[in-house]
Amino acid sequence: MLLLLTLPAESPHTVFSFPMPLKSFLTLVLFCANLALPLGAAAQAAAEFRDRPDIPKEWPREPVRSAHGMVASDELLASEAGVEILKRGGNAVDAAVATAFALAVVEPAAGNIGGGGFMLVHLANGTTNFFDYREVAPGKATRDMYVGPDGKLDDAASTIGYRSVAVPGTVAGLALVLKTHGTMNLSVVMSPAIRLAEQGFPISEKLAREFAEERPGLQRFSMSSRIFLNGGRMYRAGDTLRQPELAATLKRIAKNGPAEFYQGQTARLLAGDMAALGGLITLDDLAHYQPKIRAVLRANYTLEEHRWEVLSSPPPSSGGVAVIQALNMLQDVPLKGWDDPQSVHMVVEVMRRVFADRAAFLADPDFSNVPVAGLTSPCYAKELVATIDPLRASSSKEIHAGNPHVCTSGVSASVAPNTVISLGEGPHTTHFSVVDAAGNAVASTTTLNDSYGSHVTSSAGFLLNDEMDDFTTQPGVPNALFGLIQSEANTIAPGKRPLSSMTPTIVLRDGQLSFVTGSPGGPTIISATLLSVLNWMRLGMDAQSAINAPRFHHQWLPDQIGMEKLFSAEMEEQMKERGYQVKRRGHIGLVNAIGIDVKTGERCGAADPRDNGASAGY
Ligand code: DON
Repeated sequence: MLLLLTLPAESPHTVFSFPMPLKSFLTLVLFCANLALPLGAAAQAAAEFRDRPDIPKEWPREPVRSAHGMVASDELLASEAGVEILKRGGNAVDAAVATAFALAVVEPAAGNIGGGGFMLVHLANGTTNFFDYREVAPGKATRDMYVGPDGKLDDAASTIGYRSVAVPGTVAGLALVLKTHGTMNLSVVMSPAIRLAEQGFPISEKLAREFAEERPGLQRFSMSSRIFLNGGRMYRAGDTLRQPELAATLKRIAKNGPAEFYQGQTARLLAGDMAALGGLITLDDLAHYQPKIRAVLRANYTLEEHRWEVLSSPPPSSGGVAVIQALNMLQDVPLKGWDDPQSVHMVVEVMRRVFADRAAFLADPDFSNVPVAGLTSPCYAKELVATIDPLRASSSKEIHAGNPHVCTSGVSASVAPNTVISLGEGPHTTHFSVVDAAGNAVASTTTLNDSYGSHVTSSAGFLLNDEMDDFTTQPGVPNALFGLIQSEANTIAPGKRPLSSMTPTIVLRDGQLSFVTGSPGGPTIISATLLSVLNWMRLGMDAQSAINAPRFHHQWLPDQIGMEKLFSAEMEEQMKERGYQVKRRGHIGLVNAIGIDVKTGERCGAADPRDNGASAGY
């Protein structure tokens, strides 16, 4: 049963934002630590994997409630951009596209037009579609392009600078979502973003700190230094950040559509930068980029006489498969909460097995055959659960990828095949959720990969991704940013999408919209999203408690649990006694979710207090 607290009706425009963290750059440097990455694989560490000082601030106990629409994102200005569009009569998809473009302006670390993402749309009429606008490897990319003549992986090359950039998909994807399910023109939904880029917005403490933190990378590239470091003079909190080149680019896209980005002046500027400065992306790569609409993954569960349906992300995301595989394995496992060592133990063992399979089987489904049906089959889950010792940690040395298969008879597997429904024409990542008055919902996760991506800003004023590091840059060797071992099927090839962990997910209860979720955080995306679904669906937490609850992560290799500092020392000891290595983590994931109050129908915005998350509703 869900236990949802009912509060009095909110004011017409309800906003909650978190106080800005107060901390000095020096403190941060002291705390910067490389967590959870195996030795030798950590020349770079994504922002999500860097530790941060504890910031004393009060966490909200209640979600933000509204009767009509809600947007929960990393930035209040972006959530408000979405609400502005909802109030002008737009639906959740119009608002989501507005929010995504606004994030490209106000959250340069992750919001983007120079990266890619996934958007899961569930309409009140039951239609569900998954939009894949993941970046692809350029035509000139090769399997071993990051392996030096000495046979060693060059970690820096796949994570910073022009050669780390994959062909961006965001603009094509957002335009495709809008055309398919939106009701407004691109120019209307882009108007808040254009305004924010042109007129500027006040730089927050968080943004000023990020610019300082990212200075070594950003100052290597002239446009990045000029725009984000004020030419080396550095911004202070409260200064205004104006981005005229980005504003001009957004205006051209608003006027000419996505073709502007892929064939117009923006394409020429980007391809020109690449040719002059050692990148691989050509005009031809841009002209051939295609977003895709894929069949969503579905899984059904019955809990206390309620029918739950989990809608999640198909490959090239590994996340939906992983979350469904984990939920299947946990179906008959009693879960009491995260202060119960037994519950944590079981979920950790499930994560370990899911990540072992991820390493072996997941990749771009257009390039290899991913056994989605077997991996998400309830029969296979039963076999995997049987390998868990209920009392002791297993060792990742002994846990290897399984043999995924579907049931030969009886119940059908809970999956969709690798189906492309349609081709479009044409640490850092951020997740936001949108629900409108009609009950349409959007879960969106977009990424530049690392915080500030490749740290390169194109002449057209937008940061470019370093998504090439999500490929298996060298088989058998962990990737630079997240220490992930991945398969041969995920090696680099022209036009291929690198495997992702992004997991936008929507949960239905008795056929009605119930929960919209997802997270950034590289592989911890999968754990953070899974835990948010377990908290909501299995443990009956209200929306904000589901987000505030402590998080943990295990990715098979390295063989250790990442545990947020929110866990007690006693819990850590208990896990160690079971044979685990524990690595404390400042925070895991940034889940900006929306839950529907089953009694009142209110939209409950639960932004993640681990950062500046903010819900806005009306
Ligand atoms: O697609 C992926 O799995 C990664 N590029 C996501 C990176 C990420 O979440 C970084 N940070 N928060």
